[in-house]
Amino acid sequence: MNERADGGSAPQDEPDVNPAAAELAAFVDWFRRVTPYINAFRGKTFVLAFGGKAIAGPLVKTFAYDVNLLASLGIRLVLVHGARPQIEEELREKGIESRHHRAYRITDADTLDCVLDAVGSVYLEIEALLSQGLPNTPMAGSQIRVIGGNFITARPLGVLDGIDLQYSGMVRKVDAEGLKAQLALGNIVLLSCQGCSPTGEIFNLRMEEVAEAVAVAIKADKLVYLTDSQGVCDREGVLLGELTADAAAELQNADWLSPDIRRCLPSIVRASRQGIGRAHVVGYMQDGALLQEFFSREGIGTVISRESLERIREARADDIGALIALIEPLEEDGTLVHRPREVLEREIDKFSIILHDNMAVGCAALYDYGEGVAELVCLAVHPAQRGWGYGEQLVERIQSRARAIGIKRLFVLTTRAVHWFIERGFKLEDIDQLPLQKRQMYNLQRRSKVLVKSL
Ligand SMILES: CC(C)(COP(=O)(O)OP(=O)(O)OC[C@H]1O[C@@H](n2cnc3c(N)ncnc32)[C@H](O)[C@@H]1OP(=O)(O)O)[C@@H](O)C(=O)NCCC(=O)NCCS
Repeated sequence: MNERADGGSAPQDEPDVNPAAAELAAFVDWFRRVTPYINAFRGKTFVLAFGGKAIAGPLVKTFAYDVNLLASLGIRLVLVHGARPQIEEELREKGIESRHHRAYRITDADTLDCVLDAVGSVYLEIEALLSQGLPNTPMAGSQIRVIGGNFITARPLGVLDGIDLQYSGMVRKVDAEGLKAQLALGNIVLLSCQGCSPTGEIFNLRMEEVAEAVAVAIKADKLVYLTDSQGVCDREGVLLGELTADAAAELQNADWLSPDIRRCLPSIVRASRQGIGRAHVVGYMQDGALLQEFFSREGIGTVISRESLERIREARADDIGALIALIEPLEEDGTLVHRPREVLEREIDKFSIILHDNMAVGCAALYDYGEGVAELVCLAVHPAQRGWGYGEQLVERIQSRARAIGIKRLFVLTTRAVHWFIERGFKLEDIDQLPLQKRQMYNLQRRSKVLVKSL
């Protein structure tokens, strides 16, 4: 939007129905909502991996725009590309049979020539896409420097089950320092699915494995695969928005997964086990998929996280003892309202609990008041475990439980943690904003503050 949309003259006390103004308001609201992500991602390193199909697809131009945007926001990017369909095309043109063993191409010398041609031209195509700068496109004014180089040392895969894979290789070493130096200069690093060995030979690598090795070597903050499906789906084809690395490991051989997903999941599982905190799978056939995945709370694909989300779960009857141990000291010093054991037993399903090494370290509960309003109560983190983000994780958990049952307004009463909640998006409100039932129970002596968050 180039023009200001503030020329209207609607009286101030009338609701604004001007569509241009509504659009502008939505734009401003959207921009403000993405700001926390922009701040969180600045200076972070993402490895983006995509196959030759994504480059041959219709959305390649807008993909380049989005990469440019990510780079402009200060995200350090390593791109790793494949070229399977282009290699197949070269082989077909030269009348060479395409042969595979297990998940690898059998790359003889003639096949290697085709690989080099195909990979070389895809590389140049991506470089050209990222060098666009036409006015009236999102690339206008962009000055991204794209750098390649011999950052990957390869070695032959050798003979598998009696079959010599010849010039098919695996990653032997990643020049992490070299890569990081380029990223620190603000350059985008573009890598292909090829690597050289110290003997001077070139090897054909799987792009999924190159991305995995690079992400682990440079300790990337995110490893992202653009694939032929929107994300990882369950047997019924329903998209799984988030998975733990353990759950991904169980799924990785499932026969309903798309070919791309089957190729990248093992890499994601290995990378997670070597320290990559977040891996994402998004579809290259969705315009703006990267932006939606990174800059919206819900995302659009699948995020696979290293930590087992099992650490946070709904409480069970056998957690009562642990809950009492957590909240009793806070009840005694007046921070929390006393809840007798029988109440806890009756209301245990309202609680979520967070465990560290199987020890309960925090809890919180959700009380539904109907009509889309609920209360977050009894948020407590063990004093020895504070400052590790457990409090925040619990609030997020309660918020998602609340959203799942259609809650629009979540409130909390607190005497000691007002600022903690304000910093997490809650706003101070008057007591008369509470649901009637709660107002009647409000303990005037405690003089708790009321904070509300719209979900
Ligand atoms: C409030 C509470 C749940 C936070 O738990 P936590 O796991 O330490 O929270 P996080 O790790 O997500 O956040 C820690 C940050 O909040 C800050 N913080 C902690 N308690 C705070 C408080 N009462 N007021 C303002 N900020 C606070 C910490 O200084 C830290 O900030 P930093 O990262 O800038 O150093 C925990 O302190 C607690 O159990 N308090 C007693 C119970 C309570 O007051 N509950 C709320 C009423 S229901």
